Amino acid sequence: MTERPKLSVIGTGYLGTTHAVCMVELGYDVIGLDVDEEKIERLAKGEVPFFEPGLPELLSKHSSSGKLRFTTSYEEVAEFADVHFICVGTPQKKGEYSADLRHVESAFTSLSPHLTRKVLVVGKSTVPAGTAAHMEKLMRSLTPSKDVELAWNPEFLREGFAVEDTLRPDRLVFGVHSDWAEQQLRAAFAPVIETGTPVVVTDFATAELVKVAANSFLATKISFINAMAEVCETTGADVTALSKAIGYDDRIGHKFLRAGLGFGGGCLPKDIRAFIARAGELGVDQAVSFLREVDEINLRRRARTVELGLDLIDGSYRGTRIAILGAAFKPNSDDIRDSPALDVAASIGRRGGDVVVYDPQALDNARRAHPELAYVNSLDEALTGADVTMVLTEWDEFQDMDPVAVGEQVAQRNMVDGRNILDPVAWRKAGWRYRALGRP
Ligand code: UGA
Repeated sequence: MTERPKLSVIGTGYLGTTHAVCMVELGYDVIGLDVDEEKIERLAKGEVPFFEPGLPELLSKHSSSGKLRFTTSYEEVAEFADVHFICVGTPQKKGEYSADLRHVESAFTSLSPHLTRKVLVVGKSTVPAGTAAHMEKLMRSLTPSKDVELAWNPEFLREGFAVEDTLRPDRLVFGVHSDWAEQQLRAAFAPVIETGTPVVVTDFATAELVKVAANSFLATKISFINAMAEVCETTGADVTALSKAIGYDDRIGHKFLRAGLGFGGGCLPKDIRAFIARAGELGVDQAVSFLREVDEINLRRRARTVELGLDLIDGSYRGTRIAILGAAFKPNSDDIRDSPALDVAASIGRRGGDVVVYDPQALDNARRAHPELAYVNSLDEALTGADVTMVLTEWDEFQDMDPVAVGEQVAQRNMVDGRNILDPVAWRKAGWRYRALGRP
């Protein structure tokens, strides 16, 4: 084995593409694989198939270097790499809480028969406790090389900051069964470790749990402040001041304490649900039953946002034009998976509102997921003639709006600030009726 192992990345979604490109940036030779031919063709041409700041620049920097290539062939991947990273998705099963592991299983099943020498296969996907042990058995039963080893190395990158989080992570977690596996991982992350990144070396079960525990904690922190927002709404208190005040205690901290429409995306919602499901199977439901409440608080914020709009237009959306600003589940992303903004937009549409949605990046994805809604390509078009304007994703473009100028475009000055990003004093002064979550 060379000092700098050659790497493969299996699954080129948000996680895999970022991982592949960043590993090349760190000096490794990398091959990326996906079963989706169209995706591979676009990547091979130097095109990132989703929006992630900084990633297109890095991909084009390395596209012609010969250090990064893409394929759909497992044989080619097995031939090339010493360390294989499995980065496929684990979405929520339809109609159930548990995670759908079919892509993980298929990656192991497809790769294993081609592994003919001693290599390390590293699971990065977020999986329920016990999956790694199961994949190790599956891999061993299918591979001709008896020396193949497995490790689990959860990923903590955030969309919108994926490049930064991959090049400079807070920590690395290595779930391993041998010193050899640990050394391979240390070699595969050498430049990151050299900068002082802490490494936690542990077993498979702990590595799997670290990831779901981290996401559960983050979801709980957001739902905690949103639960406080509910209380603020009935007491006349202001959750933004409350959050600021408690966050100065550095045991609490300000991060992930922004009250508003709550969390969405392809990770936090499905990860807490998969955790609830897995804990049930393991007979420890009680230990994580609070996560049901975390989920419910989060979903109640969406319903509350729909109600805030109704308050401003006398109880019926029928015959009103509603400008929905934001479709992505958070800014700096085009990801609309479990997007709170689109959920609210769809709900208002079902209640008869004439909804127009604008987002700086996520319109194509939103159109595909909710073809029943109307979309416009600019903020100005969205605002024109609106009876209620709702800010549901905190893009800078919305935060920077001038209440006086915008007041001239809309039909009625009714604002629902679903992310607590506007200054209520300035908007009210400009003649707007302003409503927000957890704020008078
Ligand atoms: C999340 C975790 O933050 C990452 O560490 C993890 O690696 C990733 O899931 C994953 O499992 O792959 P991500 O889904 O990109 O990352 O998004 P976050 O930045 O965590 O935001 C999640 C949601 O919470 C967004 O809808 C955001 O608007 C909302 N949020 C965040 C709040 O409502 N309030 C806050 O204070 C912070």
